[in-house]
Amino acid sequence: MRHLFRFKNKTRNHSNITSNDLNIDKQNIPEHIAIIMDGNGRWAKQRKMPRIKGHYEGMQTVKKITRHASDLGVKYLTLYAFSTENWTRPTEEVNYLMKLPGDFLSTFLPELMEKNVRVETIGFIDALPEHTRKAVLEAIEKTKNNTGLTLVFALNYGGKKEIVAAVQMIADLYKENKVTLDDINETTFNDYLFTKNIPDPELLIRTSGEQRLSNFLIWQSSYSEFVFDDTLWPDFNENNLEQAIKTYQERHRRFGGL
Ligand code: FPP
Repeated sequence: MRHLFRFKNKTRNHSNITSNDLNIDKQNIPEHIAIIMDGNGRWAKQRKMPRIKGHYEGMQTVKKITRHASDLGVKYLTLYAFSTENWTRPTEEVNYLMKLPGDFLSTFLPELMEKNVRVETIGFIDALPEHTRKAVLEAIEKTKNNTGLTLVFALNYGGKKEIVAAVQMIADLYKENKVTLDDINETTFNDYLFTKNIPDPELLIRTSGEQRLSNFLIWQSSYSEFVFDDTLWPDFNENNLEQAIKTYQERHRRFGGL
């Protein structure tokens, strides 16, 4: 059964565009880029292929974009791989998505090591199937001393549930007199989120033309620049990433000031 869902990595039209083509400012690369990787299903549908083929191709794009983000000097790349709402998809699709982290890491770990990339996750990891959890925990362990790009997979992640869980943790500590009301502010609240060791994203990209946040990093993106790209995720490439960075660089971030 498993083998039904294995696809050949056929050569697609990979872009050879280098980072100089768009003249992005190398001194002003966002430290943290977060991406809502949308459009796998539509990409497959356009080709009369099963949706999981779209996810397979989406995984190839993850490799390409990770490489390029690392080459550009991005420090954190957070990818929305599976939301707390995605469990409602057909079982076959959910099972396939749960297999992807293992497939990705078993084929890409050597390159992640070579590129000094550290793997991290945000989300309710304990609720993932054992094989998925094992694959990501192993990758986190093996890459923990790498000091380059941190590649963060949002897996079983939902922003509202993340905030509720943080409030519950704080309420427990309050009951035990371990925190006071004065201890809670915007900075300390961060310590109870999955992203406690990760700076907020300066740039948040969503592919496929949809323009919503879908419960992704809703606290952390309060001052992010949003860039919406019409490209379906399997077709997203280095050029699209640089275009988004260029758009970000052309914006004037005011953080509520003038
Ligand atoms: C949204 O597209 C995409 C997802 C829910 C899954 C994203 C997963 C990947 C890109 C692969 C992840 C790879 C690793 C290594 C974990 P959609 O299926 O909702 O597309 P549609 O809106 O066109 O139907």
